[in-house]
Amino acid sequence: MITFNAATKTFHLNAGDTSYIFYIDGDGAIVHLYYGPHLESADLIPLQDYRPLAFSPYHGEALSTHSPDVLMQEYPIHGIGDYSPSAVVVRNAQGNDITVLRYVSHTIAPGKPALSGLPATFAKADEAQTLAILMRDDLTGLEVTLYYTVFKDLPVIARSTSATNRGSAAITLEKLASLSVDFTDGPLDLCSFPGAHARERQFQRERLPFGRRVCESLRGYSSHQMNPAVILCDPTATETAGRAYGALLVYSGNFAAEVDVTQLRRTRLTLGIHPQTFRWHLAPGETFQAPEALIGCSDQGFGKLTHAFHDLMRQHLLPPKWVDTPRPILVNSWEAMFFNFNREKLLALGKTAAEHGIEMLVLDDGWFGHRDDDTTSLGDWTVNTAKLGGTMAQLSDDIHALGLKFGLWFEPEMVSEDSELFRAHPEWALQVPGRTRSLGRHQMVLDLSRPEVVDYLYSALESVVASARIEYIKWDANRHLTEVASATLPPERQGEVFHRYILGLYDLHNRLVKRFPEILFEGCSGGGGRFDAGMLYYCPQIWCSDNTNCLDRLAIQHGTSFFYPCSTMGAHVTVSDGLDFDTRFPVALAGTFGYELDLNQMPPEQLAKIPEQCKRFHELHHLVDQGDYYRLTSPMTDSVTAWMHVAKDQREFLLTCVVPIRDYAMYTRLRLPGLDPSLTYEDDAGNRYRGDVLMNYGFPLPPEYWSVKAFLWHFTAI
Ligand code: GLA
Repeated sequence: MITFNAATKTFHLNAGDTSYIFYIDGDGAIVHLYYGPHLESADLIPLQDYRPLAFSPYHGEALSTHSPDVLMQEYPIHGIGDYSPSAVVVRNAQGNDITVLRYVSHTIAPGKPALSGLPATFAKADEAQTLAILMRDDLTGLEVTLYYTVFKDLPVIARSTSATNRGSAAITLEKLASLSVDFTDGPLDLCSFPGAHARERQFQRERLPFGRRVCESLRGYSSHQMNPAVILCDPTATETAGRAYGALLVYSGNFAAEVDVTQLRRTRLTLGIHPQTFRWHLAPGETFQAPEALIGCSDQGFGKLTHAFHDLMRQHLLPPKWVDTPRPILVNSWEAMFFNFNREKLLALGKTAAEHGIEMLVLDDGWFGHRDDDTTSLGDWTVNTAKLGGTMAQLSDDIHALGLKFGLWFEPEMVSEDSELFRAHPEWALQVPGRTRSLGRHQMVLDLSRPEVVDYLYSALESVVASARIEYIKWDANRHLTEVASATLPPERQGEVFHRYILGLYDLHNRLVKRFPEILFEGCSGGGGRFDAGMLYYCPQIWCSDNTNCLDRLAIQHGTSFFYPCSTMGAHVTVSDGLDFDTRFPVALAGTFGYELDLNQMPPEQLAKIPEQCKRFHELHHLVDQGDYYRLTSPMTDSVTAWMHVAKDQREFLLTCVVPIRDYAMYTRLRLPGLDPSLTYEDDAGNRYRGDVLMNYGFPLPPEYWSVKAFLWHFTAI
């Protein structure tokens, strides 16, 4: 998978059907050559498009030698004439930030090493190969290692970077990107996933002009406002055609995806922890590990890129136990009764749930301290036995006696002003002495950079969870970070707090996941405000959005689907308006599926449909969880939103089509990609179609399609 030509000093990474090629020049600089569809030969040095340019500083005597402003850089260094974003910036003991790294050595080894303290993809020795390139700045003693993992048969490369101070004086890392790639494909479009609370990951596409564009979060979390994932593609790329590159950060904190189109119309993508809120003090002998970034390439548009990332996450990132395990159909108490519940109401909800095929009751916010609204008690993870009419174990036993599993909500990272925890430890909240503490949803954020805070949270959560039969935990986080400073760190380490917070969060997750390996964790941050690959390493599913209106969900789930598998998207049928009850079902079915409404307040004719919906879920969820996902139209531009889940063996598929408005200019046929042209498929009504007809002529939409509703067709090969 990874080869090194010692004569030309060229590395060739063969990732699935793609090639990634770079070489070491005479100066020890690492020069990027190519990323794209597979090339048999990596011999590209003679073809290099080097041209000396005025105002582009160079090294060596002749103009034809290395100018970092002209040659493509594999990991752009800082301060010697590369004016596009640097990948690494280090403030040295002399006070300047010039950082010049040169190749020292490399290793190529089977498998993939873990990243200390960070979530990352994993692989067995026969599933992947990892290249580690050591570079050094002789003047400061800084050593940087670039890691590249190539996975068997997948067109995706995992990259990360570590920095070690081998000098005798302390230095400060001001930027250490996880990934940088220079593209020479001419003009490219940038696709990104901006949003807000309740409208996360809205697909956005723009033609890149000259200059810089940054997709970022400075909010402490990966955020609703921008996802740590971007696509660069041919201006003509579609779902099924054209070159598309996808890059994604396996990280849940502040990030920057910087895109720069240079004077040579070269596009540089740099992805990593956001440098604006990052300073890391590196004493002699210390090492810093940057998070992992994943990059993939497709020569057949966005669809193939999506399949690559979905497969990669299913095989190498999500908790393996849950990849093929059906998730229980749940009913969540939040939109059913918010804070207004008691034992009787919960048992009544559970009883109706069990009678209608639902498999788990999740008790959401409001069960601890004296929390009857959102102004109090976060941090006090003590059961409100008066409200629950007994202990958590008793409630859980009663729910189990109904034949249901039981799940519980936590918001571990937060503290209310009105809480025993804050009264005992006001210094545990993130804050700056002498400044007003900002609130969000009446609450503050705990300083997870402090190990004693993480220890407290571990024991508080562990004791509740160990006290009762709990099969599921929803992990919420309902505000963004402010006054990010820590009382225990010295001034030169205050720039580390944002990242140390995320390391504390990962440590807490890791300890709880290890302690309770059977529990299904669902991530959440006011809906999908921390929907990223870092969280997915611990939580195989994440609540996609607090917006459960099934029409708004079309765009949210569409944007989420570009990188994240459908099995990771928390989606429930609720009372939120937006078409009828029948329409809410297929939209929720395209994610983890469940209910979030008071079953005992529903119109009886709707309640009566739930057993059939649960049955359909059991028949079809394997296609959603394990199949290839195809976006047929876009809710951002088309009047109809349609998608498919196709089994890997192409013998079965599910077609969903949602018609939100009557539009007389709409489709009468939909061409269905991803099928076997030689097979004949039969739908549930017994209609038969050849694969080639469905693929090329299209599936004829039936006349009732002209009404506003959702359609679900299940086809199997005969
Ligand atoms: C957030 C979550 C909701 C719910 C509430 C409870 O908004 O996204 O699903 O858990 O908190 O307060």
